[in-house]
Amino acid sequence: MSTYAAAIIGLTGIASRRPAEPTDIPLAGVMPGSHAAAYHRHPQTTVVAVCDVRPAMIAQFQQTWHDVWPDVRGYTDYRTLLAEERPELVSVCTPDHLHADITVAAAASGARAILCEKPIATTRADADRMIAAAEAHGVLLSIEHTRRWSPIYTRARQLVHSGRYGALRAIHCQMVGPRAMLFRNGTHVIDIMCAFAGSDPTSVFAELEPGFDHYTTYQSDGGHDPATDPAASAYIQFANGVRAFYHSMKTPFAGIQFDLFCDTARIEVTDSDLTIIQVGDHGQWSRTSVPHDHYMATYQLGAVSELIRVLEHGGELVSSGREARKTVDIMLGILESHASGNRRVQLGP
Ligand SMILES: NC(=O)c1ccc[n+]([C@@H]2O[C@H](COP(=O)([O-])OP(=O)(O)OC[C@H]3O[C@@H](n4cnc5c(N)ncnc54)[C@H](O)[C@@H]3O)[C@@H](O)[C@H]2O)c1
Repeated sequence: MSTYAAAIIGLTGIASRRPAEPTDIPLAGVMPGSHAAAYHRHPQTTVVAVCDVRPAMIAQFQQTWHDVWPDVRGYTDYRTLLAEERPELVSVCTPDHLHADITVAAAASGARAILCEKPIATTRADADRMIAAAEAHGVLLSIEHTRRWSPIYTRARQLVHSGRYGALRAIHCQMVGPRAMLFRNGTHVIDIMCAFAGSDPTSVFAELEPGFDHYTTYQSDGGHDPATDPAASAYIQFANGVRAFYHSMKTPFAGIQFDLFCDTARIEVTDSDLTIIQVGDHGQWSRTSVPHDHYMATYQLGAVSELIRVLEHGGELVSSGREARKTVDIMLGILESHASGNRRVQLGP
């Protein structure tokens, strides 16, 4: 069994947090919630080096994971890390708008697979050069839109695409919460919308929350302050005829919900529930709660497991750079539509 050397670049919580291990139950441990925890849990991966421009983040990582990787080396420059360590797996966990240069350099460095945080990028040009670099060097590029490795969303996709309820016609998605920001969190929702649609987005028209008339390109601080990244409402069309509504609002109440309208059922999906609503003979609605599978690996561990499987056995990634580019195209189309008085914006490569 091969072991793969991994490096992590950018060391905040999503990259490095360590879940508390249960001491009172005889199981291998809890499902990870970070890249480091996923590499720890996967039997074929080990973290050899980490990087952050802030030395304190490196020290904190080395302290947190000392018993697992006592010799993990720290770098403040990712180029030096890539040149000296030549890692096979690279996690890119820097801010939303700072993924491209690192991903392109990692692809050219001899890495075999890259797991980059979402959104893939905040401009189409950045997304395109990341995808081109990965393809030119034959490197797997997976974008960590977490719900792509969620049992509940996977089950919902299977149901929708099974044809059991006829064709999917429309998708309504709603995201509310204090951090209902387009690029920071809307990217998750729009990405799963694309996964459900199973097609390429072709056009969008949209409106941003009040106060964002100046916002014609991404202008956030990396997704920290909600005031720097707008909520939005949008209508998106896909090449296969699916129509989608995306609606987000910054409210204290937080959550996301999808309604998938098929010919003979409406499928309701949240992070915790999956329900099929159908109409009976006399017009009454029936609600059936759908149990979802339990997986050995979800979220970041699902992403790492998939990369190892595709490296060793081939196959398609569920969250490739090309898939994630659709979401960037839609998010930028939303900005362009608002800036031009809610005009319909054509999407596509
Ligand atoms: N998938 C999820 O559910 C999830 C959750 C949280 C964050 N994220 C994503 O993770 C990424 C990081 O988010 P964040 O809010 O923690 O970001 P952040 O702005 O706090 O930065 C992350 C780290 O990157 C470091 N950094 C910045 N530039 C660097 C460089 N050139 N080289 C090395 N290190 C550098 C910073 O010092 C910081 O420690 C973002 O893309 C974000 O969207 C995803």
